[in-house]
Amino acid sequence: MKKQQPHSSDTSSPSDLFHSRRDFLRTALAVSVFSATCGTQTLLGNVPADDFKEVGSRLTGIFTLKFSEFPALRAVNGSIRLQVPGAPLSLGRVVVTRLAQNEFSSVSENCTHEFCPIEPFSNGRFNCLCHGSAFDGRGKLLQGPATRSLPSYATNYKAGDDFVQIEIPGLVVASVLGDNQAGFSLAQNYPNPASGQTTIEYNIEKQSFVTISLLSILGKEISELVKKDHEPGVYRIATDVSHLSRGVYLYRMETSTGFTQTRKLTVI
Ligand code: FES
Repeated sequence: MKKQQPHSSDTSSPSDLFHSRRDFLRTALAVSVFSATCGTQTLLGNVPADDFKEVGSRLTGIFTLKFSEFPALRAVNGSIRLQVPGAPLSLGRVVVTRLAQNEFSSVSENCTHEFCPIEPFSNGRFNCLCHGSAFDGRGKLLQGPATRSLPSYATNYKAGDDFVQIEIPGLVVASVLGDNQAGFSLAQNYPNPASGQTTIEYNIEKQSFVTISLLSILGKEISELVKKDHEPGVYRIATDVSHLSRGVYLYRMETSTGFTQTRKLTVI
């Protein structure tokens, strides 16, 4: 992966480098979009996550699909396929379909029988050619041997909008969200959202080795902002995010005492 110059500074002189924003977009905060007409899959582009929300111990990525970029979704029965790079296969492949003028569906691409990819939406159903299972446009099981419907995901659309939003769950197991040791803390960066420089402040209760990493929404490490021993005190790091693509990132602090906390950083 291509590396760039470091973009952060702090009281402890972080040494690692940021990776290319372009590489990051491709591998983390984006879904790849494939056409789903005539059974072909043609790469059309990447869509960055606009935001995410915590649902239980997991994160749900929110993606906006503009019809100007994905014209297949303008027409009733139009359908596209999405793939979240790096996500588990069972979560990372999604088919979005316009079922009616004001109704969309978003379902897993994987048949619940033995996980073959379903065929493009046709004649009101998704067919699995492997063993003949069929599902309706909302993923409901119509015909076996599969015994379960396709997992479906939330879609948000208001009549007249020129986009639809979909919510893809399970992008990150967020067990690290939240602090677990009194006296240690990782504050929300400011400003946030940020487009240039942003500051991250953190408190160290007792001497410990501290690592702060910048992560993709999938939890994949992009760079280390801090990695060294710390005495007790309050620290700040000024981080330049101007080289990062628009989207949502995470930053996580871990200490040798066992403290972990993760927060969200939005780049605009
Ligand atoms: S994998 Fe789909 S019917 Fe068997």
